[in-house]
Amino acid sequence: MESDFICATPRHVAIIMDGNGRWAQRRMLPRSHGHKAGVDALKIAVRAARELGVQYLTLFSFSSENWSRPEGEINELFALLRLFIRRDLAELHKNNVRVRIIGSRYRLPSDVLSLLVEAEKLTRNNDAQTLIIAFNYGSRDEIVRAVKLIAAKVDNGELCAEEITPELISNHLDTADIPDPDMIIRTSGEKRLSNFLMWQSAYSELVFVDCLWPEFDKTAFSQCLDEYANRTRKFGGLVKDTGS
Ligand code: FPP
Repeated sequence: MESDFICATPRHVAIIMDGNGRWAQRRMLPRSHGHKAGVDALKIAVRAARELGVQYLTLFSFSSENWSRPEGEINELFALLRLFIRRDLAELHKNNVRVRIIGSRYRLPSDVLSLLVEAEKLTRNNDAQTLIIAFNYGSRDEIVRAVKLIAAKVDNGELCAEEITPELISNHLDTADIPDPDMIIRTSGEKRLSNFLMWQSAYSELVFVDCLWPEFDKTAFSQCLDEYANRTRKFGGLVKDTGS
């Protein structure tokens, strides 16, 4: 159908929030200040997405590779997650936002796990917007976990190997009931996916912006949506000649 190729507002935007450290460094501040400013930008992005009509917003908050950072910085990121859920969950719930967490639960402290479970449980029936927090997330890890689930089903006879399709794999990922991202934004000028939603981004429009994450505001978000609207999505097909 022709309308398949028409870009409007993306239903799902995923963001790699990069550049907190550089933002702090440029101000001669410790990196932790950059992450705190990053949380402020995160809240602005959640509101902007809602106001701009983006239904699903995924934010890459802690990658499975971030464990290699100094212990102090890891603790700071966990503290920010705790604070965000304790302070902002009620507001998200009031705004009818459903919170979803993707990523491995392995190695997460038990109090963080409880907060994540509580956030998902409290907001599970909300339907104005879905906020997906990718925490302790990495695509390769997610795919390995999905393959193990599928292999176990083949092992116990629940599935046979011939029944494995792209849809079946999608349905075993953390993002099982979430549509694939239409657009992935990365801030700070870096141009790579860094193990983020690699399966789900097969046909995502990639938008790289130079500003550092703490500087990303509603205007920057809106400019990314304009960029998306100017792209032609073909999903491997052809753009039909409308004759106009
Ligand atoms: C990359 O910047 C950013 C991160 C590793 C973490 C992103 C986290 C937040 C925005 C805050 C956490 C929020 C919650 C709710 C947990 P970088 O530090 O790699 O920046 P750099 O490349 O300039 O050093």
